[in-house]
Amino acid sequence: MKHILITGGAGFIGSHVVRLFVNNYPDYHILNLDALTYAGNLENLKDIEGQPNYTFIKGDICDEDLIKELFSTYTINGVIHLAAESHVDRSITDPLLFVKTNVYGTLNLLEAAKNSWKDNLEGKLFYHISTDEVYGSLGDDGFFTESTSYNPKSPYSASKASSDHFVRAYHNTYGLPVIISNCSNNYGSHQFPEKLIPLFINNICNNKSLPVYGKGENVRDWLFVNDHARAIDVIFHKGTVGDTYNIGGFNEWKNIDLIKVLIKTVDKLLGRKEGASEKLITYVTDRAGHDYRYAIDSSKLKNELGWEPSLQFEEGIEKTVQWYFENKDWVNNVTSGEYQKYYQQMYE
Ligand code: NAD
Ligand code: DAU
Repeated sequence: MKHILITGGAGFIGSHVVRLFVNNYPDYHILNLDALTYAGNLENLKDIEGQPNYTFIKGDICDEDLIKELFSTYTINGVIHLAAESHVDRSITDPLLFVKTNVYGTLNLLEAAKNSWKDNLEGKLFYHISTDEVYGSLGDDGFFTESTSYNPKSPYSASKASSDHFVRAYHNTYGLPVIISNCSNNYGSHQFPEKLIPLFINNICNNKSLPVYGKGENVRDWLFVNDHARAIDVIFHKGTVGDTYNIGGFNEWKNIDLIKVLIKTVDKLLGRKEGASEKLITYVTDRAGHDYRYAIDSSKLKNELGWEPSLQFEEGIEKTVQWYFENKDWVNNVTSGEYQKYYQQMYE
């Protein structure tokens, strides 16, 4: 049996990746290592909790002893590393935490993998999940490709760029088998309602104001989270060691246009008059250093590994809004912090 260590598996994207691997690969033993910060929630994985090929470990990727112990207890064949501080606004107020988790935590994992795998690299892979934000900000034209130079502009993206550089340095210096993927903005179920889409769905439902940064003209390239998880599966199994893959859906939206789609979808579901909730839009002070536009060229992934997004955006947004409607308890629990008791009830 292969042991695969997935970090950050209780978070938004990580929980989708863990579920996909546990369900699709009964011959793998999936170890989910997560510190359960405010963003980690084991309720996300309730449905797979009892599966025989799944183990949850509560722990910090920065904990040297714990990571060494994990690598000596299990013959880990692959690492899929998602654990991170992920919210740009938080990185502006607490940059040191982002360096600690995203840079030092990644380095700690790389070091353990290097030491544990040094005598036999056969079949091993350290797969690092990163972001398109490492490339910086685009003007009105062009796309980020795998050869675009790094130009990170927020403390979050600088920390992710640094972690990417360390991953490549370990490949170049020690021959560690690594792959990196850089993905655009994800949306879908189980996303913490601090990020634009879940925050705004929740606020529209509750008639709360919608804080649009600046003029709402910034552009993001949105991908359904299950499509990201599928891409991670394909890259983990078929990707070329040492390579980078961009992941995105060629699906750019100006924030204000996307917000109007959210309003329309939620108002329809609530039986409100079309556009009724547009009055909630409130233009607020812009995010410091707000990147103008991201747009990912994912043609390498399509041409070499055959991956394509499976959902049209409108369908993905409807599914997403529907999920938040049907899971109001989940939203209430994460906004009140109540979900953190779940771990104590289940595991302590
Ligand atoms: P998230 O904030 O929802 O989840 C992060 C998870 O990591 C949480 O479960 C948290 O408890 C865990 N974690 C945080 N610090 C930890 C530590 N020190 N030790 C162990 N676990 C820790 O994040 P997400 O949106 O799911 O993002 C996952 C990864 O994907 C990140 O690396 C992020 O940079 C990357 N990414 C995210 C997006 C996006 O749109 N959300 C897009 C591209 C790439
Ligand atoms: O591009 C990939 C990145 O996408 C990931 O690496 C990050 O982990 C993820 O958080 C996301 O970063 P963004 O900063 O693009 O996502 P966020 O949802 O915070 O914001 C999306 C856009 O909406 C951005 O232009 C800022 C704007 N915004 C956001 C919030 C939370 C608002 O106008 N108002 C808000 O309240």
